[in-house]
Amino acid sequence: MKLIIEKTSKEMGCSAAKMIAREMEKKLALNLCLATGATPIGCLQELVRLHKEEGLDFSKTTSFNMDEYVGLGKTHPQSYYYYLNQHLYQQVNIDRNNTFSPEVLAEASVAAANDYTKLIYEKGGIDLILLGIGRDGHISFNMPKEALHPYTHVEQLSEATVSDNLRFFEKRKEVPTEAITIGLKVILDSRKVILIADGEGKSKIIREFLNDDRITTKLPASFLRLHDDVTIILDEKAAGQIKPEMRLPESKRR
Ligand code: F6R
Repeated sequence: MKLIIEKTSKEMGCSAAKMIAREMEKKLALNLCLATGATPIGCLQELVRLHKEEGLDFSKTTSFNMDEYVGLGKTHPQSYYYYLNQHLYQQVNIDRNNTFSPEVLAEASVAAANDYTKLIYEKGGIDLILLGIGRDGHISFNMPKEALHPYTHVEQLSEATVSDNLRFFEKRKEVPTEAITIGLKVILDSRKVILIADGEGKSKIIREFLNDDRITTKLPASFLRLHDDVTIILDEKAAGQIKPEMRLPESKRR
């Protein structure tokens, strides 16, 4: 795992966007899987800037949402498809036919989840996945538990995650408690992984993640240790509790 510590959250986002852009330039028909939420906003803004000012081409890119709230269709303002549409798709030249998210309005969620796994692999798998991390160590919506799922599945969101998401909704009862998410195997099958985190609120989980080299289902992000091409990009606040002696051999501070 490679660790990059940028000074600010904005620089963290730009750094991730530049890595994504480099991969898009190497392979025009790149299959991307992008996290949503607060952390990726700066990265998405920089991707849009690179498109508008430097001609970054999305015309052959495919984009998969890694998760979606059960019951919130693509046009719901709090759905994750809506988020990517707003922050990325409608500002770049991506073909909407190449943008996918799990079918969360279907009666049979399990079948819909299986179909999504199938779709991802039929399209050639994920080339690059951009992950955020929850304060409890979840990646995508794989919550800390006794056992984790490999493939796309329905996940009950943890109390902490529901509370964190409350800021995007008016009332607690509106916050979805279930999501369809890709699983750990789908994440680990992605050819390149970038994980981003910013702010003091993430410093504790980043410390737990990076200061211990074991793998545990209680900290789903720890499974990234099984992957050969992972870059973790933090701002200084998120990196604030990493002990100097625990810093990874390949880490860089800017
Ligand atoms: C969202 C996702 C989640 C978030 C995580 C952090 O698509 O997969 O794992 O990345 O909950 O969310 P923020 O960035 O809002 O702190």
